[in-house]
Amino acid sequence: MEIDFDRLIRRILQDQTTDWHGIHGLTHWGRVYANGMKVAEQSGANVKVVELFAFFHDSQRWNDGFDLGHGQRGAEYAATLRGEYFDVTDEEFELLYIACRDHTNGCTEADVTIQTCWDADRLDLGRVYITPIAKKMCTTAAKDPATIAWATKRAEREIVPSIVSEIWHEQRG
Ligand SMILES: [Fe+2]
Ligand SMILES: [Fe+2]
Repeated sequence: MEIDFDRLIRRILQDQTTDWHGIHGLTHWGRVYANGMKVAEQSGANVKVVELFAFFHDSQRWNDGFDLGHGQRGAEYAATLRGEYFDVTDEEFELLYIACRDHTNGCTEADVTIQTCWDADRLDLGRVYITPIAKKMCTTAAKDPATIAWATKRAEREIVPSIVSEIWHEQRG
């Protein structure tokens, strides 16, 4: 089954526990998705897992500040939509689960698919006026100054990626 991202994102937004337009909201998810696709081209990550990570990893935050449990909650929430909104193998789900659960703790050592997820997230730090540093990235692709510059420019300008733009405009009203 191909993933219907429009349907999946709308469902995640319904269940989301913070502001859809906040710093961990819809446009962040969209940029993490785009960052992930760019890094995956070089890293060889499982693209499906990286795509799903983008929309689940910050979906169950209780606030936009210090909320260490949100990775674990996002991982568990993903399990509740599996089968109804997306299909993955057990191996893929394991990767998605670990990527979500552990994205909050600053690690760099993991399977390349998980590393790509974490890099995709960190590459969007420009939205909160932090320039990502290569040392904290996991993959060669994300350590590339050109990748960091590309992603940071998009983050600072709060670009609304095409994967979420229709929903973004609807939500804004
Ligand atoms: Fe997060
Ligand atoms: Fe994030």
